[in-house]
Parts: sequence; C-alpha cells; structure tokens
Amino acid sequence: MKQKVAVIGAGTIGSAVAIALRKNGYGVIATRRRKEKIQDLEGMGIEICSDNRRAVQSSDIIIISLKPMDAVSEIKRLSEDMQDKILISLAAALPVGVIKKFSRSYTVRAMTNIAARVGGGFTVYCFDDEFPEERKAEVRELLSSFGRIEEVEEKYMDALTALSGSGPAYILTVIESMMYAGLKVGLPRELALKASYETVLGAAKLVGESGDHPSILKELVITPAGVTIDAIYELEDSGIRTAFMRAIESATKKSETITKNIIEKFNV
Ligand SMILES: NC(=O)c1ccc[n+]([C@@H]2O[C@H](COP(=O)([O-])OP(=O)(O)OC[C@H]3O[C@@H](n4cnc5c(N)ncnc54)[C@H](OP(=O)(O)O)[C@@H]3O)[C@@H](O)[C@H]2O)c1
Repeated sequence: MKQKVAVIGAGTIGSAVAIALRKNGYGVIATRRRKEKIQDLEGMGIEICSDNRRAVQSSDIIIISLKPMDAVSEIKRLSEDMQDKILISLAAALPVGVIKKFSRSYTVRAMTNIAARVGGGFTVYCFDDEFPEERKAEVRELLSSFGRIEEVEEKYMDALTALSGSGPAYILTVIESMMYAGLKVGLPRELALKASYETVLGAAKLVGESGDHPSILKELVITPAGVTIDAIYELEDSGIRTAFMRAIESATKKSETITKNIIEKFNV
C-alpha cells in the first residue's frame, strides 16, 4: 500500500478524492462530523471517522476539503499534529499565505473538480515557497489519482476555480441542453443523452490529443451550405460565446471577492 492519506471533510469533493485515492492504492481515512453519511466509503476500503485529530495523526499526508473558513479553524486546531506533514488544501479561495500563518506543514493549494471521482478531474496546484523540492513528486503522484494535473502560479487560482473547478457544471449544462435538443427533434431519451455525452467526450479528446486549436477542428465539421453551419449560425446568434465569457468572468470575480475577504479577515 502507498502512503496513508487523511481526507478531512469528506463531503462532495472530499468523498470523490477519497475514492480516487483508494482506487490508486493509497490508504485512506475520511472524516466528517456526521460519519453515517459516508458509510458507503467503508465498503470501498476507506476508513471513516469523525475525529480529525486521530485521522491526521495516523496519516502521512492530509487533504483538507472543507469550506474555507472551516478549513482555517481545523488547520489552526490541528497545527501541531500536522507539523512537517504534507497538507493539501482543496478549499476554494483559501490562499497559501493564510494556511501558512496557522500551520507548519508543507503546504499545497490545489483546485480539482468533481470529475476526480472517475479519475477524469483536472487539478491545478501550487506549492508554498518552502515546500521541499524532493517531496514534490509525492504530491504530483497523489494528485494524478484525480486525473490530469498542472502546476500554476497562485495568482491564477481564482480564474481556474471559475473555469475548471466549477467547469463540470457548465459542461453538464451543455450535455443536458444537447439532450433536450435531441428530445425536441424526436430522439429517444437514452439515445439523446448518450449521443450528447459521447460527443462532448470525443470533442474534448480530439482537442487534447491533436493539440490543434478548437477553431481549426471546428472547420473540419462545418461544410459550405451543410447541416452544421445552420446550427452554428443559431448558436452564434444566441451569444453563446459571450454567455460563457460573462459566466466565467462573474464566477472569477466571486472567487476573488471571497479570497479578498479571507485575506482581510486574517490580515495576511
Ligand atoms: N464540490 C466541488 O465540485 C468542489 C470542487 C473543487 C473544490 N471544492 C472545494 O472543496 C471544499 C468542500 O466543498 P464541497 O462541495 O465538497 O462541500 P461539502 O459537500 O459541503 O463538503 C464539506 C464536508 O465537510 C464536512 N465538515 C464540516 N465541518 C467539518 C469538520 N470540522 N470536520 C470534518 N468534516 C467537516 C461536512 O460534513 P458534516 O457536516 O457531516 O461534518 C461536509 O460534508 C470547498 O472549499 C469547495 O470550494 C469543491
């Protein structure tokens, strides 16, 4: 078995990463106050408890997947138990500087997304300045359990929280919209859903594997006076691009505001 990881706050994202880690051979102990809500994790070989201190003490690496303010309280309270261990915070809008103010752990700030549950997440991360070089590989290996990873500068975290952290919600809206469109033109429900998500999956794979810009790939589908251009005309007319830009800009601003409030509150 690989190292033991404590997942503190096994709610939506904490449970997702606990499952991904277990599948990848890590020992996992997951906590939440109402531990009866995560009993299903036990069947997957994940230890569950409500005692964060015990979980931290018995683990090599700690993942905090709490809301930002709860994360700060627990990091403060368990600071001594976490000392010299790797602490990975998944809390949105919680800067490394605030975590370091209350902890003597080797700190990583990361933002993953719900697709981590199936190993299809995209996780961006940054290390604190004092993080030991020789331990960075352990973090990269662990985060890779959730899917693809990318090290980034912390200044991009609010934008990435809005783009890829929240992103599955936008793409699920796209899949749902395409499915409804399928229903509108008479497809059976299951076929409409399958055709929608397989198309999203395939288009994403095409971009990732070809390395080509989406606009070049799109040109391959749009033939003069063909079927696709009629749909593209309607989408452009609806302002779909600016809708996405406005949406992600608005979510970025929200994340920036939360970050700013946290920084002010903790005077960092
Ligand atoms: N959801 C996402 O897609 C996503 C993606 C990336 C990052 N995040 C970030 O991850 C964090 C958690 O988000 P979430 O959506 O997973 O929220 P969530 O579902 O509410 O999970 C948080 C969990 O923490 C538990 N909890 C609260 N206080 C605790 C404590 N003192 N000790 C142990 N457990 C405690 C809660 O359960 P009890 O009340 O039973 O204790 C709750 O289930 C947030 O900072 C969020 O920004 C979320």
